[in-house]
Amino acid sequence: MREVKIALLGFGNVGKGVWKILNMNSEELIKRSGYHIKIGKILIRDINKARDLDVPKELFTTNFEDIIEDDSIDIIVELMGGIEPAVDYMLQGMKRKKHIVTANKMAIATKGNTLIKTSREEGVMFYFEGSVAGGIPIIHGLNDNLVANKIEEVIGIINGTTNYILTKMTQEKISFEQALAEAQKKGYAEADPTSDVEAFDAVYKLCILASLAFDTIVSVNSIYREGINNVKPIDIEYAREFGYVIKLLGIIKETNGELELRVHPTMVPAEHPLANVNDSFNAIFLKGNAVGDLMFYGRGAGELPTGSAVVGDIVSILRNKEKSSYYPCLKNEGYKKIKDIEEVKCEYYIRITVKDKPGVLGEISSIFGKNNVSILSVIQKGKREELVSLVFITHSTLEGNINKSIGMIKALNDSEKIENIIRIENLGMD
Ligand code: HSE
Repeated sequence: MREVKIALLGFGNVGKGVWKILNMNSEELIKRSGYHIKIGKILIRDINKARDLDVPKELFTTNFEDIIEDDSIDIIVELMGGIEPAVDYMLQGMKRKKHIVTANKMAIATKGNTLIKTSREEGVMFYFEGSVAGGIPIIHGLNDNLVANKIEEVIGIINGTTNYILTKMTQEKISFEQALAEAQKKGYAEADPTSDVEAFDAVYKLCILASLAFDTIVSVNSIYREGINNVKPIDIEYAREFGYVIKLLGIIKETNGELELRVHPTMVPAEHPLANVNDSFNAIFLKGNAVGDLMFYGRGAGELPTGSAVVGDIVSILRNKEKSSYYPCLKNEGYKKIKDIEEVKCEYYIRITVKDKPGVLGEISSIFGKNNVSILSVIQKGKREELVSLVFITHSTLEGNINKSIGMIKALNDSEKIENIIRIENLGMD
């Protein structure tokens, strides 16, 4: 039996998942890859830290040199996260002709081009299935199985923590703060939840998906981002009344060669499959010009789901090793124009608190009219008190027109308060 040695950089959740999968499915992996996959070294920070798995102590090292200098190691599996030193270690590995697998979204989203270019120059394989949506095979899906398509749009729930929080807020009618505390108790949200709730995590993933699906170089800074911290139970309740569910969506659309790239809370029709993706699950819905509508659904994080993607990548390398049939993914060699958010067209939900007196609704409606914003429906709720809620749903309009209107409404004398603006995607299935 041929044997291949791999090294793990990092031994957190995903590293442990890889260890477990290599042990629990070892026979299948030998049959499917033709190799016995052995872990030769594991790079960790603290050699004395107690670990719950029965890993021989001699595999651990705190010195990357022990890995890079070891010619018996064929594949480096980077699971440290963050940009540096992870990127430097991957580049060093490539230069020493080691194939690389990573699950590091931040590294791929920000340094993917350098990594791809170096892997090509060095003639090594580079896979990163685990970097987007954990166990969902979206990267191989886009690069291999769907390669015959022009992709028209990709819409995804690509952050499990925020999906868990929004699900709890919807189902249990609790506040964002209460739902976040539950997510932290369950281990979904971190002590500092910024990266998830303010949608930085989703932006990295969307950046990778956009460059794969649309063959282009995408900078994370060109992606419009809004987190879920301002979604209130009352917005969820209004959404329900209008037939929608609120989800944090990553959206990529191509129209006339220009890309829309945005991550924000979105109202989606309650009957659409994405509206029914709950708890910490992820889902990616896409339209291809040959395949039509397609949806991937599964676990977007966790030691075994992400470990499944990583071990799958290791097997892809082993299968391609002798065939030289590997062509690195990310064909991103050009730039597509990214639309400014002001040029995006959407329907909008706008909730405003106003003084309940004659003429207020008329004034606001006339501002919308002047800015070419057509109102689809409006409701006013309140208890004959001084302040009431006005909720508008607009027809599809340019975001720039909405922003101009909001500026004018804020300038009205009666100190109307714009409580929330949420974009609506009237998604259908073809
Ligand atoms: N924190 C991420 C999520 C998982 O909640 O989906 C890792 O990307």
